[in-house]
Amino acid sequence: MLGPSTVLVTGGAGFIGSHTAVELLDHGHEVVIVDDYSNSSPGAVERIAKVAGRPPAAAYEADLLDRRALTEVFDNHSFDAVVHFAAKKAVGESVRLPVEYYDINVGGTTALLRAMREHEVHRLVFSSSCSIYGDTTKVPLTEGDPARPTNPYATTKWLCERILTDVCRYVPELSVLALRYFNPVGAHPSGLLGEVPNGVPNNVMPYLAQVADGRLDRLQVFGDDYPTPDGTGVRDYVHVMDVAEGHRMALEHLDDKPGMSVFNIGTGRGTSVLELVSAFSHAAGTPIPYEITGRRPGDVAELIADATAVARAWGWTTSRDLAAMVEDAWRFQQMNPAGYPN
Ligand code: UD1
Repeated sequence: MLGPSTVLVTGGAGFIGSHTAVELLDHGHEVVIVDDYSNSSPGAVERIAKVAGRPPAAAYEADLLDRRALTEVFDNHSFDAVVHFAAKKAVGESVRLPVEYYDINVGGTTALLRAMREHEVHRLVFSSSCSIYGDTTKVPLTEGDPARPTNPYATTKWLCERILTDVCRYVPELSVLALRYFNPVGAHPSGLLGEVPNGVPNNVMPYLAQVADGRLDRLQVFGDDYPTPDGTGVRDYVHVMDVAEGHRMALEHLDDKPGMSVFNIGTGRGTSVLELVSAFSHAAGTPIPYEITGRRPGDVAELIADATAVARAWGWTTSRDLAAMVEDAWRFQQMNPAGYPN
């Protein structure tokens, strides 16, 4: 897809969606956001406009399962492509509410595919996840490695990939790129956009940020008896700005070939929980209290991307290191201790 385009971004007010919206606006694309604000807020859309220096063409409050609302969005614009983030993403919640996860994540994706077909939109970038590799000891992971999802959240992402692969087989004009991100963290360097979790954060980075600014007492480190150098879990943290650039490049490469392709999005480098605590303490200039507790059910020792395929295909590589990830996350936390104003 070459030249300025009109792109529908579902979940565009969320963490990765909002950074991607800015990246697209910065590169001359028109952006239309659909978000139900169930885990985000209209405040994020205002911030997108502020950071990009111009607003999205439109922002709709709508649920993808609301067929009338989605049809109206597609009727009102002529989309060249869709970037589909809108989904629920908390692993623990997915274990408690599996049906909701299948309904929203899988049903939302098929509803979107239906609207795309009805409006002859044939290009899609899909937000997938390294969690589909699941219970694995292989390091690093390549796109050809088997999927073994261990929770409903991960299974919904795997099912969506399977559905997209199958639909592409029968709809030859469709072109889909699924990006399997490892652990996106950080924030826009302006401090105006970042991750705003609902309630107490599940993920380690927003949790650390709230410990550093005193909103939470201490980090619980989930296990120090993993077969890793310091015994704590190792993950491939990747700066959300690099992830956003990956989506913009994916859009530019959607026409490289028809059908479905899948790429890992990570740095290829692992960081342990204790290394992350240390990097965050350094950025915040304050020690971060933590205690070692038992392992969190469902966690694996180590997840690291082999992201060489995407580097070969489009030249995408990461340019921001761990120091930038924690500095940007900390700046966002300091500037927005209570998230976005509504
Ligand atoms: C999970 C999902 C991933 C999803 C991501 C964001 C899996 C395997 N992974 O990643 O797909 O994209 O959430 O929603 O399903 N930790 C602590 N203390 C905490 C929180 C986390 O020690 O309070 C540790 C964990 O044990 C882990 C690391 O920090 O080793 C990262 O955890 P987290 O940020 O929750 O992300 P993942 O579980 O890797």
